[in-house]
Amino acid sequence: MCGIVGFIGKDNGVEFLIDGLNSLEYRGYDSCGIAGIVDEKTKVIKTVGRIKNLEELTSEDLVFNIGIGHTRWATHGGVNKTNSHPHQSFNERFTLVHNGVIENFSELKEEFLSDKKMISETDTEVVVQLIEVFAREGLSTKEAFLKTISKLHGSYALCLIDREDADTLYVAKNKSPLLIGLGQNCNYVGSDALAMIKYTNKFLEINDGELVTVKADSVLIEDKNGVKIERSPFTPNIKYGEIDKGVYEHYMIKEINEQAFAMRNIISEYFDGHDVKMDQEIIDAVKEADRLYVIGCGTSYNAGQMSKEYFEKWAGIPTELHLASEFAYNLPLLSKKPMFIFLSQSGETADLRAVLTKLREVNPTYKVLVLTNVDASTLSRESDYTLLLHAGVEIAVASTKAYTSQIAVLSILAYQVAKELGKAPNLDLEKELSVVTTAIESILDDTKEIKELTDKLFTERNAFYIGRGADYYSSCEAALKLKEVSYIQTEGFAGGELKHGTIALIEDNIPVVALITKSEFDLSTRSNVSEVASRGAKTLVITLEKLAKEGDYAIPNVHETLAPIVSIVVTQLFAYYAALGRGLDVDKPRNLAKSVTVE
Ligand code: M6R
Repeated sequence: MCGIVGFIGKDNGVEFLIDGLNSLEYRGYDSCGIAGIVDEKTKVIKTVGRIKNLEELTSEDLVFNIGIGHTRWATHGGVNKTNSHPHQSFNERFTLVHNGVIENFSELKEEFLSDKKMISETDTEVVVQLIEVFAREGLSTKEAFLKTISKLHGSYALCLIDREDADTLYVAKNKSPLLIGLGQNCNYVGSDALAMIKYTNKFLEINDGELVTVKADSVLIEDKNGVKIERSPFTPNIKYGEIDKGVYEHYMIKEINEQAFAMRNIISEYFDGHDVKMDQEIIDAVKEADRLYVIGCGTSYNAGQMSKEYFEKWAGIPTELHLASEFAYNLPLLSKKPMFIFLSQSGETADLRAVLTKLREVNPTYKVLVLTNVDASTLSRESDYTLLLHAGVEIAVASTKAYTSQIAVLSILAYQVAKELGKAPNLDLEKELSVVTTAIESILDDTKEIKELTDKLFTERNAFYIGRGADYYSSCEAALKLKEVSYIQTEGFAGGELKHGTIALIEDNIPVVALITKSEFDLSTRSNVSEVASRGAKTLVITLEKLAKEGDYAIPNVHETLAPIVSIVVTQLFAYYAALGRGLDVDKPRNLAKSVTVE
């Protein structure tokens, strides 16, 4: 993970560097720093903790016409100022920021730097020291940078400055995301477009293996043999302002509240009247597959689980779910005509990129569709097809509106595929998604009861969510949400499985929340609730109005197949209020980052 920025131009770039890092803080927030060249010397300012600490160290008269910045999610070496970026070479000529992991940094250290005592414990420092080693051999900065890169194994987005040349930023990437922003009399570098959108809406993509030389008035992209590459800029579908918290105290609660809006967007993007409006090539690719492999991580994986409900039950296409981090290294037996569906809010997740690389090696003709919230994200650019979630920018580390949007978009795709395969599901999906939207709104209209329930329920160190079928999948997501923001150890369980071992953990006051959104599971899940209640658990059932009994939390009636989109909202609010009640940093839980760009 980590976020990097760079600036070169006639004006002062300090404001951009700080703003850019603030936008990228979701990628890591252990420490941060900036560096720039002033009067032929490089000034480096670093600190442990958040960007606001860095701002306090940045005086108003600081002027950088060339500068780089970094916000860190520690991978190599502890969280301290020495390990923070930017890192400098021994003679302080070269200064570098890096996002990614250099897998062979120990070997490189052994081969080229064995007589040197490194300053930090990081893999990044080896890169900048190597550049100095090669420059001392007489290579130009560009040649030394290129030679260094040719020796690196792993993932990197790099931005380098040279004290002896205040007119150039040297930029390269492999697997880690990085974009160039085109300004007027200046240019920008950033891990994503959001970091630069306040300053420009014109961006240049960089591909793995390219070397980019950025000056105030030019950007030169070359391949590793020095051949110039022409590339047109693109404008992503985001606007400055979308990334404000608005009237909300936290991004998480803002994004929970935006779910009805996201549903409306999805309906208008993917329906034309009651007919589905979607790229026919994508529908055909899914129709032709004999098996779907749905792959994701974390919340996206949990959303993917729901795809079985739609692709298998509506369209009759066998559907397997896989965790990306497992799939890439433990390839399952693939069917004759597989189709791969990747789910990724950010479109940058390294574990999924590893799956893509693996699939391209196994069979370059395999088709990959990505469902992502980020237009022009790396996975979207590298896969065969993209379906956008249209949920609006998601900033909080805990994913909420992307989850419900992923389920909605999956349902639309499966619905259309089923229809074209002559297996039309017995519902008007456009209408039913509108009912879902209204149901979400009605929950969000009055959250007082949910807040009170949170305070009553989640008083212990542990908690459980249980359910069957789709409600089991929702339980996994509800548990992930609660644990990642409130640090309450929570498990999502298939209701019937508790008695096979885990029920041993139930003792007085342990909260067990049951999700029941399907009539067929009402009796069986309620009997699981009785089993834990009789062993002292504090229980709550979240169910549809039509199934509700006294003491349950009732959500409005919606089509049962789509009900998980609604019930999850209650559990997202539980997570939010539980974290708030504990005085935690809701938007930036400890040890996490929004976009996980390391494997
Ligand atoms: O951007 P992605 O959807 O690929 O991210 C996958 C996970 O890292 C992400 O869903 C993570 O689990 C969230 N923190 C969950 O809230």
